Amino acid sequence: MDYETPLFFHVMQYAADADRDVIDLVSGGPDWEPPTALRDGLREYADSDPDAFQYPPSDGLRELREEIAARRGVDVNRVVITNGAGEANYLGMAAAMERDAGEEILLTDPVYPYYPGKAKMLGADVRLVPVGDDGHLDVDAMADAASDDTAAILINSPNNPTGAVYDAETMEAMVDIAADNDALLLSDEVYDHYDYSGRFESALAFDADHVVVTNSFSKSMAVTGLRVGYAVFPSWLVDDARTRHMLVNVTSARPSQVAVLRALRETDAAYYEASRDLLRERIDAFTDALDAAGAEYIVPEGAFYVFARFEGFPGTLENVERLVDEAGVACMPGDTFGTHDEWVRFALVTPRAEEAAERLADYDF
Ligand SMILES: Cc1ncc(COP(=O)(O)O)c(C=O)c1O
Repeated sequence: MDYETPLFFHVMQYAADADRDVIDLVSGGPDWEPPTALRDGLREYADSDPDAFQYPPSDGLRELREEIAARRGVDVNRVVITNGAGEANYLGMAAAMERDAGEEILLTDPVYPYYPGKAKMLGADVRLVPVGDDGHLDVDAMADAASDDTAAILINSPNNPTGAVYDAETMEAMVDIAADNDALLLSDEVYDHYDYSGRFESALAFDADHVVVTNSFSKSMAVTGLRVGYAVFPSWLVDDARTRHMLVNVTSARPSQVAVLRALRETDAAYYEASRDLLRERIDAFTDALDAAGAEYIVPEGAFYVFARFEGFPGTLENVERLVDEAGVACMPGDTFGTHDEWVRFALVTPRAEEAAERLADYDF
């Protein structure tokens, strides 16, 4: 199989090797503090008895699953703890392909690059459905693209890379389109804590037995390295997903799960609000500077990316490398995200995001 290695690594390495100061806006690893309770949990864990260093239950610590189930309003048996949303998305796509109810996975264009990579790895045919100019789902185009051959439709809100947030009406329409075509709707909600529009709706709000919701604590608690995510499966799919998770991973890391559980219980809303405020301010400052640079961009309603383009400066890998060398700013080339080779993506996960924006405003595109 011809596996596609994500370009992230290449660009990050190029930036690291550059002979100058470079502000890295390439990948989405938060730079802000995790919850205090999470650090406390990890610290205390080091002094646990030896049995705490052994396998947890394969589908995750019962108490963590219960905490998630209570928060999401679902039966605990539907919750599987995964190695991040990345694995949860893989399990969802695998479940869709195993049903033998179609070979195609519908994704949006632009798209988070790991989705097509994973879908192809699972033998799916990938179809990219363009979104509107504002980054919002084109529900009619999705309905037209869906067919008997659709195994799954994977959507992501708040969205990486556009920052679009899908409202309740859109989510309901997508649940219906999937049902009409006997497909699974996979809803990746990993940025759900970063909704600045107030319009975010989870696919779990709709009582449907063909919806898989994936999420993780990577972004909400700023701990991409801990690898704790989860999937909420419909009851009829969960056993197979659990088995696949067990055969691939055995289980997921216990210390991470214990620390996340503690943080879930002890962290109040102010922590999440502070992260949102920080990012909202960064986005505003960054987009102001993009205005000064004469760039076009999709105004982010959520998440922490800005998808932009500069007149006469397509977002090719070559131009991205020029930006590293000449402006001291590293970002992702647009064709990584589907058919958007005019565009680039900035991940605002550094306190230097505003400084990067100023460098862009000063750069002669
Ligand atoms: C849309 C989306 N889904 C999933 C992931 C992976 O998340 P995790 O760290 O939970 O595996 C990312 C990471 O950037 C993402 O942007």
